[in-house]
This record gives sequence, C-alpha cells and structure tokens, in this order.
Amino acid sequence: MTIYITAHLCETASYTTRDYFEGAIMKPTPHIQTQFLSAHDVAAIVARTGIADTLNGMADYIRQDFMRWGDFEKCARVANHSKDGVIELMPVSDAKTYAFKYVNGHPSNHRFNLPTVMAFGALADVDTGIPELLSELTLTTALRTAAMSAVATIALARPGSRRMALIGNGAQSEFQALAFHHLVGIEEIRLFDTDRKATDKLMRNLAHTNLRVFACDSVAQAVRGADIVTTVTADKTNATILTPELIEPGMHINGVGGDCPGKTELHPDVLRGASVFVEYEPQTRIEGDLQHLPADFAVTELWRVLGGQVQGRSNDTEVTLFDSVGFALEDFSALRYMRDTAKRLGVGQSLALIPELANPKDLFSLIHPDATAATDKLVNLDPIRYLFTSAQTA
Ligand SMILES: NC(=O)c1ccc[n+]([C@@H]2O[C@H](COP(=O)([O-])OP(=O)(O)OC[C@H]3O[C@@H](n4cnc5c(N)ncnc54)[C@H](O)[C@@H]3O)[C@@H](O)[C@H]2O)c1
Repeated sequence: MTIYITAHLCETASYTTRDYFEGAIMKPTPHIQTQFLSAHDVAAIVARTGIADTLNGMADYIRQDFMRWGDFEKCARVANHSKDGVIELMPVSDAKTYAFKYVNGHPSNHRFNLPTVMAFGALADVDTGIPELLSELTLTTALRTAAMSAVATIALARPGSRRMALIGNGAQSEFQALAFHHLVGIEEIRLFDTDRKATDKLMRNLAHTNLRVFACDSVAQAVRGADIVTTVTADKTNATILTPELIEPGMHINGVGGDCPGKTELHPDVLRGASVFVEYEPQTRIEGDLQHLPADFAVTELWRVLGGQVQGRSNDTEVTLFDSVGFALEDFSALRYMRDTAKRLGVGQSLALIPELANPKDLFSLIHPDATAATDKLVNLDPIRYLFTSAQTA
C-alpha cells in the first residue's frame, strides 16, 4: 500500500500522520509524485479559464509577490552566452517555496523553424527540496511577460491611455496586445515589424477581438500619437528601435525585447529623457537597455511603486519607461498561478521524478534491488516526517 507524500497528493492519504509514526499500520514506502504540466495542459488551462481571466489572475499573483519583495531570496539570473543566443537559469525562493526557470533566447532560431524563446521550470518545497511542480514555461512566459507589462503600465502610464504602438509582432506580441486590451483598457494598437508576415499573423490573431488594429510602415508611424509604446523585438544586437525624437510628452514605454548584454532596443537618450523603472536593479543593469548608462543613473524598482512607497508618474507630461528584462519572481508567480489553477480544474499529470527508496541511504538498491534486505523497508524513514510536515503546511 502506498501513501502519497507531496503537497496535493497527501490529501488523498487515508492514514493520519499519528497512525503512521505510532506504528498503528505497516510503514509504507514513500511515494513522491511531482505534478507535471505540459504545453498542452497549460493551453487547456488558458482555454478553460479564458485569456482575459488568465492574464488578470497572473497579474494578481505577480502583484501579490512583488508587494512582499522582502520575503524573497533574489539574485540576477545566470546566463550562458553563445554566438547566436543565450541560455539562462532563474532561481528565486521565499521561506516555503523555491522556483526556477530555464529559458533560452535565440533570435535566429527561425532558421530551424524554432521559437526564439523556449522555457520550462519548477516549484519545490524549501523544507525538503521535493520538486512539487514541473511545468512548461514557453506559453506561460508569454502570459507572465504580458501580465507584467500590464502591471507596470497600470502603475506608471497616464490614466485613460487608449492607444498603443506595438513594435515587434512575433511570438510574444498577441499576449502583450491582449493584456493591454483586457487589463489596461487599450482600444487601438498600431503595429510595426520588419517582417510584414509577422504583422499579418498578429492582425489575423487579433481579428476576433474588439481591438482596432492598424499595420504601419515604420516605427515612427506606429509611435506617433501613442499613449503607450511597447517594443518586443528580437535581434542579437544593440538596436535603436526607439530614438529620442519619436518620444512624445507623457508617453509610457515598455522595453521588453532588450534583455541581454549586447541585445537592446532603445537609444540611451530615450532612457535619459525618462523616469526609468526596473524589476530587479542588479539584473537590469547587466541585461536591460540600462546597460548603456552609467552605474549611477537613477532607476526605481517597480515593487516600491506597487507597494505605494514611491510615486510612479508625477505628471501627465513625464515620460515613464519600464526597462523589462524578465525577473525570476514573475515566473515564481506564474508557476504558482498555473499550479493552483491546474489543481482547481483537475488538469495535469503526475511524474515519478524522485526514486522510491525503502532506505533513503540505499540509493544503490534502485539498480540492485536483490541486495536489499526485506527488513530495510521498515527502517530509517525519518525524512517522511519532514515530507508530512511540509505537506500539511503547504
Ligand atoms: N522582458 C521579458 O520578460 C521578456 C520575456 C520574453 C521574451 N522577451 C524578449 O522579447 C523579444 C521578442 O520575443 P518573441 O518570442 O516575440 O520573439 P520572435 O522572434 O517571435 O519575434 C520578434 C519579432 O521582432 C521582429 N524584429 C526584429 N528586429 C526588428 C526591428 N528592428 N524592428 C521591428 N521588428 C523587429 C522580428 O521580425 C520578429 O517578428 C525577444 O527579444 C525576447 O528575448 C523578453
């Protein structure tokens, strides 16, 4: 007989912890299951929840986590660079839960018919290290990046902003457009991409919405008269998608695509002319458009604005700029959102990632079971106490 140990599966156990430790029953072999969400599962969650509610829910989780910023152990992500791209690991934890994301950025992947960005990640129990959730994060990253742009924009843009320019119409762009539509109240979007087919694809995908969508022939045409400008291009170079003469008083800019050393989108004078907000300053100094400015260039971490500690925009003519690079805490929030929603909807699968061992010191028994005495199954199961404790407080 098996008792399930992980947080969500423990609820199905038919024995109490007291029964277990007082020896009222035969001690079972621990059976650790990790919840798994495939890309198909996450797509099903979004389909059943609706894209607007998904983005809204994720934005709420992001806000909640940013507003308890001090609870998290944080670091800039670890990046391995190569000629065509980067592979990054993004860890973060609070006292209870650890999260990490693996993500790449290869703008020339289209040569191989592959996306620029692909990702997966995990949630784990801090007390024991048990991996509780393993999930796809390619689709989830697009959702969380869009939700994050909306959270920042609601905090920083002029109230009543209705018109946006969206530069870069690739994989992330629909999610950005829909987050701005549903969460910020954007009604009109002007599009530009150097690849007209990408813009046509975006227009097709937004055709069923109430958004008014226009394709433009240049960045300048798209940006003119916009309340909000979002750049989400991919090119492994220091591009200057936005130059100072394009920026109008009162605009809010989201620079989403400049997220790596040597991969930026904004002319440095665009930042100099704006109040600049960032996710986690030590990371953005390395990866954001901020990398072109001296170390003493003043920026504000967004959590301070969300927590009401500092003001976002001070007047209607100020230019505000969110230099987004993507911070691990957003993935922590996104993974939490997906875990909770999957549980509510009954979506996902279980994985046997961690070996079942009668004696946790006898890992070798996994490949040589004959050498393990039957009595080993009844001894030395102390880690279960920790597993149960974490399961009950999860
Ligand atoms: N900040 C974050 O949290 C975050 C999260 C995810 C992705 N990103 C970044 O967002 C960017 C877009 O990602 P994606 O998955 O949509 O990539 P994608 O390759 O699917 O789309 C990028 C689009 O940008 C266009 N483009 C390139 N150079 C351009 C230029 N000079 N002017 C106009 N358009 C141009 C390309 O033609 C392409 O259609 C990438 O740089 C990625 O690294 C950032």
